[in-house]
Amino acid sequence: MTERSLVILKPDAVRRGLVGEIIGRIEAKAGWTIVRLEQRILDRSTLEQHYAEHVGKPFYEPLVDFMLSGPVVALVVEGERVIQGIRTLAGPTDPIAAQPGSIRGDFGSIVRENLIHASDSAESAIREEKIFFPGLS
Ligand code: RTP
Ligand code: MG
Repeated sequence: MTERSLVILKPDAVRRGLVGEIIGRIEAKAGWTIVRLEQRILDRSTLEQHYAEHVGKPFYEPLVDFMLSGPVVALVVEGERVIQGIRTLAGPTDPIAAQPGSIRGDFGSIVRENLIHASDSAESAIREEKIFFPGLS
């Protein structure tokens, strides 16, 4: 099924010069298309909407501060089973638990600084796309 995922390369990925490496892995998957791509500096209200499910959790404030700490790259990727596919490319939240070969497993060591966000369901993808690329679709 063709669908879209909203992906964010977090500030650690941009700072460390891993944007090309990570986007290259997404581009290399057959049939997937990058339909929007932009580097930007986020603001608090965007992050509050994006991470609404996490407001009030102990990691929320440090997460927002981290996401504000430098530019991110936001993209929309479209293709066959792209939501599950990019979650698989990313690996689980904790980079130490993530398999080598995954983005988090290859490059991360800190839970917060885990390089990439990717939509976790079709509902999340639609919600997140509206936050980051309101003009799309
Ligand atoms: P994401 O939303 O960024 O794609 O990551 P995820 O689904 O794998 O993880 P989620 O549970 O939604 O958490 C969002 C982000 O918050 C940071 N986090 N820190 N215990 C902690 O310090 C902690 N737990 C989560 C991570 O950056 C995680 O990706
Ligand atoms: Mg999440």
